[in-house]
Amino acid sequence: MHHFFTKPDILSKLVLKKNRTEQGARRCRKRGGEKRMADMLVKLYHLNWDAGFISEQAQQGVCIRKPVGPEKHVVIDWVRANFSAGWASEVDVAISRVPGTCFMAVKADQFIGFACYDATALGFFGPIGVHETFRGRRIGSALLRACMLDMKLKGYGYAIIGDTTAFAFYEKTVGAVEIADSTPGIYGSRVKHNK
Ligand SMILES: CC(C)(COP(=O)(O)OP(=O)(O)OC[C@H]1O[C@@H](n2cnc3c(N)ncnc32)[C@H](O)[C@@H]1OP(=O)(O)O)[C@@H](O)C(=O)NCCC(=O)NCCS
Repeated sequence: MHHFFTKPDILSKLVLKKNRTEQGARRCRKRGGEKRMADMLVKLYHLNWDAGFISEQAQQGVCIRKPVGPEKHVVIDWVRANFSAGWASEVDVAISRVPGTCFMAVKADQFIGFACYDATALGFFGPIGVHETFRGRRIGSALLRACMLDMKLKGYGYAIIGDTTAFAFYEKTVGAVEIADSTPGIYGSRVKHNK
């Protein structure tokens, strides 16, 4: 069991929360819904080298790191259980690269968040997710910045945030700007299910 809370008395609440999180994740990829979606661009060459977000998270007991090989199935299962099968596929791509292009947030030996790049397509950031219980503690911001710095170190000049609704999150954290006419972008022609 890779969830934080396993006590029987709160299991039903957790199932509700999990369903809500999955719905949120699906909405993030939904087209034609209420929320506007687009790709965004990040100027990695303007991003500072400060990796202080690692120690900032360590102070609240959260380790930001890349998963190692034996964790692969655990990471994929956790993302599928807490977000969606599509995001689990993208994590599978990212974690299978050498070196990997996926970062995890770990607290008390449990996964609480993840972020990937070069998973949807080369140069693309995403998906990203933080367990509902731990949102609002700058963990998402730390995971995003870890990926951006890793990309910058590899020599990328720009990162593309794929198909987002969370514009303010990316603007505030890494100065991202919306890419004009980027909906539905690369996601438009994907096959979702075999009939
Ligand atoms: C988006 C997400 C990863 C953010 O993680 P988080 O750890 O809660 O974010 P942080 O605490 O680092 O937030 C950093 C800042 O961004 C803001 N922010 C966070 N999530 C936001 C959102 N969805 N939309 C707009 N702003 C957001 C926060 O208010 C905070 O602003 P502040 O510095 O002024 O206080 C998290 O909400 C999540 O997992 N959402 C569900 C999955 C999802 O939607 N992923 C993005 C797909 S495009």
